[in-house]
Amino acid sequence: FPLDLNAKSLVHPNEEPITDKLYAGFLEHLGRCIYGGIVDNPKAPSPKELLEKQDDGKEFTKGRLGFRKDVMKILAKDGELEIPMLRWPGGNFVSNYHWQDGIGPIEKRPKRIELAWLSDESNIFGTDEFIDYCRATGCEPYLCLNMGTGTYEEALAWLEYCNGKGDTHWANLRRKHTGRDEPHNIKYWGLGNEMWGPWQVGHLSPTDYAKKAKQWAHGLKLVDPTIKLVSCGETGASQWDREIIETLIPYADLHSIHFYTMLGHDKASSVPGFEYEKNVFGPAAAEKHIDVCKSLIDMANIGRSWQKQPARDMKICFDEWNVWDEVKAYGSVGLEQTYDYTDMLGFCAWLNVLVRKHKDIGIACLAQSVNVISPLMTSPDGILKQTLYHPLKLFSTYMKNGHLLQLPSMPDVYDGPTYPVYIQQGLYKPSYIDMVAVLVKTANGASIRLSVLNRHPEASWKVDAAFSGFKVDKVEVHEIYSDDLDAVNTFEKPDTVIPKIETLKAAERTGYEVKKHSWAFFIFDGTLA
Ligand code: AHR
Repeated sequence: FPLDLNAKSLVHPNEEPITDKLYAGFLEHLGRCIYGGIVDNPKAPSPKELLEKQDDGKEFTKGRLGFRKDVMKILAKDGELEIPMLRWPGGNFVSNYHWQDGIGPIEKRPKRIELAWLSDESNIFGTDEFIDYCRATGCEPYLCLNMGTGTYEEALAWLEYCNGKGDTHWANLRRKHTGRDEPHNIKYWGLGNEMWGPWQVGHLSPTDYAKKAKQWAHGLKLVDPTIKLVSCGETGASQWDREIIETLIPYADLHSIHFYTMLGHDKASSVPGFEYEKNVFGPAAAEKHIDVCKSLIDMANIGRSWQKQPARDMKICFDEWNVWDEVKAYGSVGLEQTYDYTDMLGFCAWLNVLVRKHKDIGIACLAQSVNVISPLMTSPDGILKQTLYHPLKLFSTYMKNGHLLQLPSMPDVYDGPTYPVYIQQGLYKPSYIDMVAVLVKTANGASIRLSVLNRHPEASWKVDAAFSGFKVDKVEVHEIYSDDLDAVNTFEKPDTVIPKIETLKAAERTGYEVKKHSWAFFIFDGTLA
């Protein structure tokens, strides 16, 4: 199949380049994400060389608690994964989180029952510690408000504590606790998490949520008119989303959606032999949800135009996405999932979708950043990069600050059994080959980056790349392939599933074979012609 990569054929030539916020992260007080991943777990202390003290040189607590330096080096904005932003503190956790429990002297903070995951919360990592972590890593903070058991007054006070510049009670309390005058300056605030879900403490009907969120939005923007608010959505393609977008579009700047592929996966009742397909084609449903959500935003804007109101550029905040397999992760303590090779292929399909839809997405947060359904796992003395880590690193390094290129549509479509949740009622037939390509201007010229996912279980695919408007000087290919679909990386064998890197001469770029069930990432460096 000849693949014409035309450097002059941009999909959205007048749009902003691809935002690095597609690679944001998410930290929830769940399992070992915060305690064990971000800060050291006092019950299983790590060697001192793995820990970083806070900048003021004080011990993090009276004990040996400190930030995990190895995790920080990976998550930091100038670290390996170049994470630009972190969402915190939940997730379901936030619906029972009272922020005032997590400020002030650590030894005085109350220990609480945590109702989302039924554990105890020590509150030793709170708002100021999160901001210290963001300062140390260069990640932008994104906070989610408690709209479950939290009150309107608490929310306004939290905003004033973080962003207040005046001589007022909460701003002064922040100064007292941090010893610094400057505010935390938190720009992004989420109006609750999954408030539609019956598992959520204090969940609401869409009408009740919309009414409450409208009131909160009004007050929050009076306290700080510069903030950006994120309304709480569902999958992006539901009645809840429709009603919330319609009501909140004048007040919210982004609309959040959540979607996990393989969730609801239940081996006992699923179509035999369909595990692989569900995983690798699952993200096609997320792509549909993004399209539907964007249409709901367009519809709400049409409604505004009838009332002579200007359109609002409301973007999607995909603030939870990932492969989350209940069979592999649910029974585990704190949703610790071992990701295998097939999960990695599903994850590559996810990354392709996010880049392809970047125009409609303001922020996307991988759920989650460490230990909990995550590419990164820690032990007291080391860190494991799971199968998902490697494509994530290539995307977060290379697939940003550029423009999407037009690609031909692939002929060979999947026509196997359909599964309503994952592949929308069989109406959508994804191709075996899933690709995305971007053009990025570089210091020395330009670069075309191409991600090719071959989901076919048996057939390989030959890429005959031809270029228009671009002269190739150098080609680098990162290929991830395993014969064993269940292959995993472990602390003992961390390099089982890693990219094989090859540098090709410009002339060798044709005929590159992307193997059956594999992923290849091409970096073509050259100049615009
Ligand atoms: O990321 C795990 C959980 O998934 C989050 O707490 C919740 O928002 C979602 O249901």
